[in-house]
Amino acid sequence: MLYSREKIEEVLSATDLVGLVRQYVDLKRAGSSYKGLCPFHAEKTPSFCVTPDKGLYHCFGCGAGGNAINFMRDINKMSFPEAIEALAKRAGVALPKPQFSNYGGEKRVGVSKTDLYAAIKNATFFFQDRLWGPEGREALAYLQSRGLDLDLVRSQGLGLAVNDWRALHNFLKAKGHSDKVLVDAGLIKARGANEKDGYYDVFRNRLMIPIRDLEGREVAFAGRVLPGQEQEDVPKYINSPGTTIYTKGSLLYGFHQARSYLRAAGLVFLVEGYFDYLALVQAKIPNVVAAMGTALTQDQINLLRGQVKEVYLLFDGDKAGQKAASRALPALLNVELPGKVIVLPNDEDPDAFIRARGVPAFYAVAETAMDILDYYVQGLIPEDKPTITSEARAIREAKEMLRLVPDAALSQLLRRKLADKLQLEPNVLSEAPAPERRPVLSAPTKATVPSPRIDPTAKSILAQVVTYPNLARSLPALGPYWPNDPSREVYLALNQQYLNEGSIQPEKIFLPDNEELTGLIAKAAFAAPTQTAEESTLELRQLAENMRSKALKAQHQSISLAMEEAEKAGDTETLKRLAEEKARTPHPLLAKMKPQ
Ligand code: GTP
Ligand code: MN
Repeated sequence: MLYSREKIEEVLSATDLVGLVRQYVDLKRAGSSYKGLCPFHAEKTPSFCVTPDKGLYHCFGCGAGGNAINFMRDINKMSFPEAIEALAKRAGVALPKPQFSNYGGEKRVGVSKTDLYAAIKNATFFFQDRLWGPEGREALAYLQSRGLDLDLVRSQGLGLAVNDWRALHNFLKAKGHSDKVLVDAGLIKARGANEKDGYYDVFRNRLMIPIRDLEGREVAFAGRVLPGQEQEDVPKYINSPGTTIYTKGSLLYGFHQARSYLRAAGLVFLVEGYFDYLALVQAKIPNVVAAMGTALTQDQINLLRGQVKEVYLLFDGDKAGQKAASRALPALLNVELPGKVIVLPNDEDPDAFIRARGVPAFYAVAETAMDILDYYVQGLIPEDKPTITSEARAIREAKEMLRLVPDAALSQLLRRKLADKLQLEPNVLSEAPAPERRPVLSAPTKATVPSPRIDPTAKSILAQVVTYPNLARSLPALGPYWPNDPSREVYLALNQQYLNEGSIQPEKIFLPDNEELTGLIAKAAFAAPTQTAEESTLELRQLAENMRSKALKAQHQSISLAMEEAEKAGDTETLKRLAEEKARTPHPLLAKMKPQ
């Protein structure tokens, strides 16, 4: 773990959970806790609760729950260390400098995230300065000619990279950024293999669009070729590389700004281009995000889950649109988000359409949006005259798409629907068992198992102890029998806490990165006790007995198996040793646990 348990506990106690959650959720007081609409799934009546004295939140609707770290992590899609760092900063708790060698298992040493953020931020300022200065006159006029107000240009942080090989480098060097940081940030490149050959600016002669992360920090750039300079061999956009602060395909352009509008609107417009995004925002349609050119990813769709009830996709009407649909469809299905596709007339892009016809016309077309499955099917087979080869290709493509739906039940339903629409036998779309695909595809009849599986008895015990903290005294005796699954980490933390402090405070332990467990603990912490002290003790004793006998049975079984092996191999020595071991291991049915 990157930070010590003590440090984490310090951050948690210094954090006001209600204040934190209020930044994202409108909370109303309800007795000793607070209620609001859950930010992790779409709902109309509030089932999301926060108790300030426990420092935990829980959603009775979707089961999400945990402490401030879990909240920060899930709402901002951060890693655990990042969530801790953000909370520490917020609460004014100083953290020790992390050891980069074990940061997220990464071996990169040297350039810190802080350095990268600072470099990108200062580059943003530099580009903005050029756009608003004398050199930027033409570029600014171009943006205005595309219908963009100066206010929007400013708030988006748009800028200009001038036609110079070292303008940015010189500026950032003077600001104290090292070459190494600037190279890692993707802002400059080495001229040759040797450092002495010098560096050059990556972005030159381009309109600069800063990409912001989920918290609104600038993390990367897209640079668009300037008007009048478009050429065959010049890419329209060049983009920053992925870095430790920017994972390609993990962000949606404009998401940070759209977030507060998404819930109210209930839907999001997902466009392809930066300028489509800008045109919609300019037209006062704030619930819009852009995919940034690359193929839509599951991560990008995941950002929208819980925020909206529907995703409206604005694609190109051609083959590219079909391709985009085949990526979006499985990604949306995987998070149970309904998707619709808006097909604009004459293949206009949203930017051109809105400017030519206005917002009412845009909404009118949006109302005719097609279900994404229908759109997908329609594009799969050319409607005019399907041939055997075009049908075969469609089947291949559909199978490719189905591979992206790991849930067996969902995939089977989709397969049946597709087969129906394409007038095929469903088994035509089934996969011949391809060994390397197995784990993703899984046989249609097999139910999906959430991984890693957590022992049900262990779950019940955790829930029982958290609901009735007096039962914590039974924890130490369970150590030898506790199953080796993710629940063990929670058990060990609670047990440690009990041994150190004589009582448990589940809100203070560091919950592992496991949704099922954090949800379970939070739910139990919110549960009103319904059992008397005797009943709850009795129930725990029963559960503990189950866990113990299960563990012993497993132990007996494995010894018996080993004995069989040894017998077959004629290994009498091992056989003898195992028999002794078996005799020492109490049989689950004979030896009952001593009552506490
Ligand atoms: P305008 O042409 O000025 O309206 O820009 P646009 O942002 O609307 O671009 P366009 O519709 O041509 O392309 C849609 C998106 O695809 C862009 O916003 C970029 O994210 C991406 N894209 C387009 N061209 C390129 C390119 O040459 N390279 C890369 N990496 N991405 C591109
Ligand atoms: Mn465009």
